[in-house]
Amino acid sequence: MPCTDVISSRTEPAPVRVARPRRLLMCRPSHFEVCYSINPWMHPEKPVDNSLAVLQWERLRELYASLGHTVEVLDPLPGLPDMVFAANGATVVDGKVLGARFRHVQRTAEGPAYLSWFLRNGYQDVLWPEHINEGEGDYLVVGRRILAGTGFRTDQRSHAEAQEFFGLPVTGLTLVDPNHYHLDTALAVLSDTEIMYWPEAFTPGSQAVLRELYPDAVLASAQDAAVFGLNAFSDGRNVLLPQAAAGLIAQLKERGFEPIGVDLSELLKAGGSVKCCTLELRDAPAGRREP
Ligand code: ARG
Repeated sequence: MPCTDVISSRTEPAPVRVARPRRLLMCRPSHFEVCYSINPWMHPEKPVDNSLAVLQWERLRELYASLGHTVEVLDPLPGLPDMVFAANGATVVDGKVLGARFRHVQRTAEGPAYLSWFLRNGYQDVLWPEHINEGEGDYLVVGRRILAGTGFRTDQRSHAEAQEFFGLPVTGLTLVDPNHYHLDTALAVLSDTEIMYWPEAFTPGSQAVLRELYPDAVLASAQDAAVFGLNAFSDGRNVLLPQAAAGLIAQLKERGFEPIGVDLSELLKAGGSVKCCTLELRDAPAGRREP
């Protein structure tokens, strides 16, 4: 980048950020525990404080409500300790629901459990997928484009299935670091045109794609990525993220966002944080709703 560009971007005032109220689906961690290990964060031998997990989750839910968002809550099922990670339950765009099909047998039953919530709640355009995909863990919607992770969980063939179902361009990105096994642990959507990510979580080719699409993206340090700082939720103004991600918090402030640090220490023991607990219900735009 020429020197002048750097100087001019530094002197520009940060843009004014406007929050858009969202509808979110969450699942209380009543049955949360770490009793198996399907990612490097999970150590069943280490104790988990379930009451603290519930308390921290309640705080997150209240925070969303206080910011003007609507939070729907799905009943957790016993025997499905990871069901708290609602992001994995489906992908919802324009009121269309792509169900989730999990890679690991320990989570398989969550797919139909989430899907039945959508059927009970009046969603009509619902697809039970052919290929493995772990919902918004690997599908992140940026404006009218969908970024799609693969490498650990979601099958690459699911990307074509999602593109056909939603009728939106799906850009595949390959993850390489097992600590960042879902796309939402390595990349977060900040607005309809902006993202933040940790480049080393991706193959060189995927890094090049991200540079091409988002040359002004916020880049996370290895330290911020390691505390799950990218497992964040943005409403366009407020960015909720793990409070330990100090570097990202400073960078977001510089860009005019309102970062809000959150403590989800217990859920982190299963390899999840803010975004993992949050599934966005993107309803059909007015005028395109089904009768
Ligand atoms: N223990 C869960 C798993 O390994 C954590 C899921 C986190 N969810 C997410 N959206 N990254 O599947």
